[in-house]
Parts: sequence; structure tokens; C-alpha cells
Amino acid sequence: MSVRRLAEDQVQPAIFAFNDENAVWAEATIRKYPAGRQQSAVIPLLMRAQEQDGWVTRAAIEFVANKLDMPYIRVLEVATFYTQFQLKPVGTRAHIQVCGTTPCMLRGAEDLMKVCQHKIHHDPFALNADGTLSWEEVECQGACVNAPMVIIFKDAYEDLTPQRLEEIIDAFEAGKGHEIKPGPQIDRIFSAPEGGPQTLNDEIKPVRTNLDPHPSAEEAAAAASVPPADAGRPKDTAAETDPKLKTP
Ligand code: FES
Repeated sequence: MSVRRLAEDQVQPAIFAFNDENAVWAEATIRKYPAGRQQSAVIPLLMRAQEQDGWVTRAAIEFVANKLDMPYIRVLEVATFYTQFQLKPVGTRAHIQVCGTTPCMLRGAEDLMKVCQHKIHHDPFALNADGTLSWEEVECQGACVNAPMVIIFKDAYEDLTPQRLEEIIDAFEAGKGHEIKPGPQIDRIFSAPEGGPQTLNDEIKPVRTNLDPHPSAEEAAAAASVPPADAGRPKDTAAETDPKLKTP
């Protein structure tokens, strides 16, 4: 796990402000929360700031803190806790977050990191020559069943091989990242078994075979007239439940 600190002073801009569109969005987002709970908007506002500038600057953290009337340290804690927030400039076309936790590590995450080192830069968070790509190792992203995987922006790319990751990196570098379908990169639907479902494949037959699936109008009316069962009702035949008693 990498140490998460703010970027050096040399790269920090002096000020931050939302552009007009984001300012309107931020006000609407803050209004979603009840009075006195506006601080709950801290994560969406930080994420919007990152989407606007490409990373979370110190000025953005202070801006969000002032906006939500929070101490700077509280917003800093949020920004440094979640690896979804980038604390220094990252690749303009892709920042690749390689999961390095145990299931992904056992399934080849180290080879994925070697691809990143080879294609982007030896060191995490260092930009490639064109400034378009960067990478880092992150902790579990919750897709362990499809390990190994990477996150690029808000999408997960799973069931990766080194060759497939190379293709994905090439696509993002060429500005064609949107052409890559997120999710499993093999023949599986979400986290279902590779090749299709392996269980519960038998035809499911109805248990109550005596019921006519297509009753006539008379039969349906007769069925509807049957009173509901008493199974879920409390027993009220005990002496202490006699309604004549004033108190049970
Ligand atoms: S260990 Fe990689 S997604 Fe959970």
C-alpha cells in the first residue's frame, strides 16, 4: 500500500473553484442532505473536483471544507483515505490502479504490475513520457472473484492477462479507452462461472402440480373466495386474552 500524501508544493495550484456547471451541481448536491448534515456531501464534492482538475489539489480540499463548514483536517482525512482520490497529477488518458491484494496477487497481479512498469514507468505515480499514463498498486477493489483486475477511472477491468492489459493500456493511450468493455475480459457474465452457468441448469418444475396454471374464470373466483390461512395469526383463545378482561 502506498503512502498517501498531498503532492509537493511546486505542483499545487494556489486556488480552486468549481466551474459554472459544477458550481450549480454542487449546490444541488448539498441541498439533498437534511439541515445540519451537509457534510455528507464531502465525497461527491471531492470527486467532482477531481473530475474537473484531474486530481485532488490542496486548494480543492480547502475549498470543499469551506463550502461544507468542515475543518480542513476532516476533508484531508477523507481524501487521503480513499484510493479513488488522486492526490497528485496522474496520466491524462488513464491512471491504472492495479489491485495487489492476496486473491489478485495469487492470480497474477505481479505480472500486471510488470506490464505497467514496462509500458508506463518503472515507478508508480510517475507519468510516462507523454504525460498520458500512470499507474499505482491499490488494495482490494471488491472484484476478487474475477481476479486479477485493475481500475481505470470509475471502471473495473477483470480476469486480466498481461496481454489483455497491454491491449487495454494501448487503447487508452490512443484515446480509445471507451471502446473497451469494462468488467470481465473473458467469457463470463459478471461473476458467473467462465463459460456460463454451471448450477441450477435443470428445468424447474412446479411443486404444486395439482393446480391448474390456466384456471377458468369460475375456478379463479372460487380460489379467491378461500379465506387466508390462520397460520400467521397469534393465538387468542387463552383465558388472559378474553376481551371482557380490562387488563390481560
Ligand atoms: S483482491 Fe483484488 S479485487 Fe479483491
